[in-house]
Amino acid sequence: MILLDGKATAAAIRSELKETVAAKETLYGRKPGLAVILVGEDPASQVYVRNKERACENAGIESLAYRLPADVTQKDVEDLIRELNTRDDVDGILLQLPLPKGLDSQTCLDLIDPEKDVDGFHPVNVGRLALGLPGYAPCTPAGVIELLKRHEITTSGKRAVIIGRSNIVGKPMAMMLWGYGDFANATVTVAHSRTPNLKELCAEADILVAAIGRPHFVTADMVKEGAVVIDVGINRTDNGLAGDCDFDAIKDKVSAITPVPGGVGPMTIAMLLVNTIQAYERHNA
Ligand code: GUN
Repeated sequence: MILLDGKATAAAIRSELKETVAAKETLYGRKPGLAVILVGEDPASQVYVRNKERACENAGIESLAYRLPADVTQKDVEDLIRELNTRDDVDGILLQLPLPKGLDSQTCLDLIDPEKDVDGFHPVNVGRLALGLPGYAPCTPAGVIELLKRHEITTSGKRAVIIGRSNIVGKPMAMMLWGYGDFANATVTVAHSRTPNLKELCAEADILVAAIGRPHFVTADMVKEGAVVIDVGINRTDNGLAGDCDFDAIKDKVSAITPVPGGVGPMTIAMLLVNTIQAYERHNA
C-alpha cells in the first residue's frame, strides 16, 4: 500500500516554489502578494487562514490579511474586493468561505478579478477549467491531481467515483479527472446524497474520492480491492480530526490512500501558493 503523503509532497512543492519566488523577486523588484479576506469568527476558517498565511510567509509571498467582523456589510466586503482588484502589490485575492449568514458569497466571488482569482472560484475560471483553457483551478482538486501525478498513479482509462458535488471540490474534481492537460483521462461518476446503490457504485471505483464531510463515511465494503482512495474530508470530532474514510478499516484493501491529516489538506495550501505565483508571473508579464 502506498501512503499518499501530502505533507511531504507539499513540502517538496513549497521548497521548489521558494526558489522560484526568490529568482522572480530579483527580476520584478517585489514579492508576490496574496490578499486573504476572513469574515467572522468561524474557528475552522481561522485555522485555515492562519495556515495559509504561514505557508505564504515561508515561500516568500507577502500575505495581506483582512479580518472583518461577522456583522460587516455586503457593500464593505464588495468595496474591499474592488480596491484589492486595483492594487498593484496584490497578485491574488482569496475570500475564505463560508461567509457568515447574511452575506452573499457568490456576488463577492463574481467581483474578484479573474486574473487574481487564485482559488479558481470565479465563473470565468470555472468556465475556463470546463473548456480546458488556461486559468486557475481550485486548489483542493488541483492538489489531488498533483498528488496522483507525483506518485505516478495511473488514472487513464480508470473508473473514478467522486462522492460529493460541491463547487469547491466535487464538480471541479470531476472535470479534472475527465482530463486535465494531458493527465487523468478517467471515466468519472459523481455521486451524492440522492445516488441509489452508493455502496455498490463506490465498490466499482478504481479511484475513489470522498468529499462529503461526514466522518468515516466510506467503509471497507465500499472500496474495491486495490483501489486508490483520496480522502478530502476534514471533520472535527470528539476524537480529533477525522477523514471521510475509515482509514484503518480500508488501508489493507487499497493500493494507495491519503491520510487525514497530512493528505489532501497540505496539498490544497501548496496549490494556493502555485496559483499565487502564477498570478504574480502573469501580473508582471
Ligand atoms: N473553504 C473551504 N475550502 C476553501 C478553499 O479552498 N478556499 C476558500 N477560499 N475557502 C474555503
